[in-house]
Amino acid sequence: FGQSLYKGINYYSQQVQPAEAIDPVRYISNHSSGKMGFALAQAAAEMGAKVTLVSDAVNLATPAGVKRIDVDSAQQMLDAVMQQVEQHDIFIGCAAVADYRIADIADQKIKKSAEEMQLALVRNPDILATVAQHTTRPFTVGFAAETNDVEQYARGKLQRKKLDMIAANDVSIQGLGFNADSNALQVFWQDGSQQLPATDKLTLAHQLLTLIEQQLNKS
Ligand code: PMT
Repeated sequence: FGQSLYKGINYYSQQVQPAEAIDPVRYISNHSSGKMGFALAQAAAEMGAKVTLVSDAVNLATPAGVKRIDVDSAQQMLDAVMQQVEQHDIFIGCAAVADYRIADIADQKIKKSAEEMQLALVRNPDILATVAQHTTRPFTVGFAAETNDVEQYARGKLQRKKLDMIAANDVSIQGLGFNADSNALQVFWQDGSQQLPATDKLTLAHQLLTLIEQQLNKS
């Protein structure tokens, strides 16, 4: 990635520990480790891009040369991303962002009482779709984590969120995807697709970025 062509790759990652708070001691989260996102940030930096990584406080070393912004929730991630978006030519949304957050975060630890309890959830903003709607948007790449009908769901997200490209992974396959060192991707764009077979996440990140570079040069 020549710096003359790319001001940078804005990639945001994670919802591992942070996720969405329930009370001061509990939160809603998922199995994402941050490895895929950090591999993308590292690969982009190795390819010469200026990289901003918006991440939760995941316990992974920040790749050399990467500017990292830590956030605690989807809303904070959205704010950080939108503040940066105009300075970047490419945005890659690899974070497993919580679709819902707690409606009212308790100020104090919720005490055990009734046999059943209910937590009210409200929809989080969709960061990727918000970036894609921005007037001076960067080349916008999403991820899709699916357990079935991978191509159909990924293509649906490509159209609905108006993305330039989407990288889909089948997270039902043992040893790939969430919290693994390897992954495999099916990448789709308007008039093409490519399979990136299982390999370590850094190699895969380089392959995905090469595809992005090719499509960006065509646009
Ligand atoms: O972190 P690892 O352990 O290395 O695992 C990697 C991974 C499996 C998390 C990664 O490869 C991956 O698939 N990331 C996307 C996970 C996800 O949330 O997918 P989704 O299909 O639910 O979301 C679709 C897209 O919308 C994603 O680009 C997501 O970042 C984005 N999104 C979703 C919800 C939301 N509120 N805002 C968003 O921007």
